[in-house]
Amino acid sequence: MENTTVEKKKIVLSCIQPTGTPTLGNYLGALKNWANMCDDYNCLYGVADLHSITVPTFRENPQQLKKNTLELYALLLAIGLDPEKNIIFVQSQVPTHAQLGWILNCYTQFGEASRMTQFKEKSQRLGENISVGLFDYPVLMAADILIYNADFVPIGADQKQHLELARNICDRFNAIYGNVLKAPDPFIGKAGAKITSLQDPTKKMSKSDDNPKSYISMLDEPNVIMKKIKSAVTDSEACVRYAEGKDGINNLMTIYSCCTGKSFEEIEKEFEGKGYGDFKTAVGEAVCAELAPIQARYKELIADKKYLEECMKKGAEMATRISQRTLDKVMKKVGFYQTK
Ligand code: TYM
Repeated sequence: MENTTVEKKKIVLSCIQPTGTPTLGNYLGALKNWANMCDDYNCLYGVADLHSITVPTFRENPQQLKKNTLELYALLLAIGLDPEKNIIFVQSQVPTHAQLGWILNCYTQFGEASRMTQFKEKSQRLGENISVGLFDYPVLMAADILIYNADFVPIGADQKQHLELARNICDRFNAIYGNVLKAPDPFIGKAGAKITSLQDPTKKMSKSDDNPKSYISMLDEPNVIMKKIKSAVTDSEACVRYAEGKDGINNLMTIYSCCTGKSFEEIEKEFEGKGYGDFKTAVGEAVCAELAPIQARYKELIADKKYLEECMKKGAEMATRISQRTLDKVMKKVGFYQTK
């Protein structure tokens, strides 16, 4: 007998901040998985611009924020996210996120928000200039996720703690009002979940690092990529093998593995008896090959602002429509007076 039950696709949601051109870390840790999940899931992906004004750099540079937002949107399409099949939106154009964010604030304990390591690190760097928004940002992130009843959230390892917070907020809310919100699971790839800085491989690669040699931007020219990989910090052993204490080489092996699909064992074999120079050349070339088609597509897309704005508008409309349902349900449960 013909199987007439069509299985409903699971929901995937993730966002990225427009705080600069994404790095190879963003790509291998998150964006590449976003693109891979497109066919099997109902995907919603957002440019998290509301999050970006939590730090002074973007509060003080509105033009830069605007420019970054358009560029990041174009880059999301360039990695292969199809706006016809996925919902790709800019967060500030979907008002429901901030609305749910406020409500969830009241179901978040001050103590649990204080334990967020990213807040501790960022606030240490910022000194006196710490906004309440920076503290509150993981709650908005929880709203981003919970408002779509997301099943999976593809992220790098640095966002795992925020996802756990989202689950805790969800459970607390549901404990009072019944099964209203859906607890999401993180989707963290086996390789690439934490790509580290090329200059200090004990730290994560970050687009807000002051030293551009420490990260590869997804739009870096091939000669720049080669130079940055060549100057990556390694060790004095001159042996390509994955081992404790070899953070720099481990990172380059991870990058190479993500770009070529080769396992660490295969890589060790390939470079047996060869020095770091040869290995770095191969890593650089693999990164250039991975990014070249994305960069070419990006150049076409960024030249077509009209198309990008049309996609943005459509994405925001669809995201608003879907998320409004959850918001309405939440508001009703909480007891906000609704007129018919
Ligand atoms: P953001 O913009 O810092 O980073 C976007 C994604 O890239 C991942 N990532 C990395 N993965 C591996 N190695 C690295 N060096 C590396 N650096 C960054 C991040 O884990 C992330 O998945 N708060 C989020 C944005 C956000 C969000 C959300 C994410 C807002 N709302 C809802 C998921 C769901 C952030 O700042 O990511």
